[in-house]
Amino acid sequence: MSKTQLFDLDGKIAFVSGASRGIGEAIARLLAQQGAHVIVSSRKIEGCQHVADAIIADGGKATAIACHIGEMEQIDSVFARIREEFGRLDILVNNAATNPQFCNVLDTDLGAFQKTVDVNIRGYFFMSVEAGKLMREHGGGSIINVASINGVSPGVFQGIYSVTKAAVINMTKVFAKECAPFGIRCNALLPGLTDTKFASALVSNEQILNTALAQIPLKRVAAPSEMAGAVLYLASDASSYTTGVALNVDGGFLS
Ligand SMILES: NC(=O)c1ccc[n+]([C@@H]2O[C@H](COP(=O)([O-])OP(=O)(O)OC[C@H]3O[C@@H](n4cnc5c(N)ncnc54)[C@H](OP(=O)(O)O)[C@@H]3O)[C@@H](O)[C@H]2O)c1
Repeated sequence: MSKTQLFDLDGKIAFVSGASRGIGEAIARLLAQQGAHVIVSSRKIEGCQHVADAIIADGGKATAIACHIGEMEQIDSVFARIREEFGRLDILVNNAATNPQFCNVLDTDLGAFQKTVDVNIRGYFFMSVEAGKLMREHGGGSIINVASINGVSPGVFQGIYSVTKAAVINMTKVFAKECAPFGIRCNALLPGLTDTKFASALVSNEQILNTALAQIPLKRVAAPSEMAGAVLYLASDASSYTTGVALNVDGGFLS
């Protein structure tokens, strides 16, 4: 009996934003392990190059490209480069997001509001638009949006961030419906509390951590690698009939 090819990504080109560390790095490494050529991206090229070099050292294919997804010109130029160097894109993982201010919603700062919206909504949206155009030219593709459990159940003192993550869940359905005719699927991953730099303020504070753990049936925080398997499923032919879904990977938090 031969093993399934459903999770193979041989010959695929994948772009992962926020791939220099944390959840994005774990996703980039797994997609490369399954055969994809992964474009490892974030704002700072050094971290991306480090991850790309590690993938190549492991026998995979990777290219590091810097892109601040909150800057429209950088989105334009990264897609011009993808067209020139690769000519196609099969998988987009919108993973890079920002959460600059922890505060009561009444204290929300306009600058933090704008930054959060620009990166988490406008960035995801126009990355998907550009990727969608390129995927349409080549008969389809898969877009995966890393949202959050906060998009369903807002996190305390994470007001505008939670609002943007709810928008990402709706955006996922918009792209799923309107891009299905082009063979493009679009799904969201909703991570629960995951041990990364992003969550370090929560995970390193014993009181906050214990309060969080009390609400997680599996009674532990996730490792970044535990998010990657779900993304591989959504990126690969294993999920060929799945689109518009918001997949909770949260230790049971939302159940
Ligand atoms: N960790 C959690 O508990 C948790 C829970 C739910 C959802 N999430 C979501 O999971 C995703 C990844 O989070 P993480 O925990 O892995 O964070 P992380 O470890 O802090 O990594 C964030 C990544 O995004 C990049 N980045 C930040 N701002 C960017 C921008 N404007 N443009 C491009 N790249 C940018 C960072 O690199 P540079 O500094 O080089 O740009 C880095 O590679 C986010 O969408 C987050 O909302 C996380």
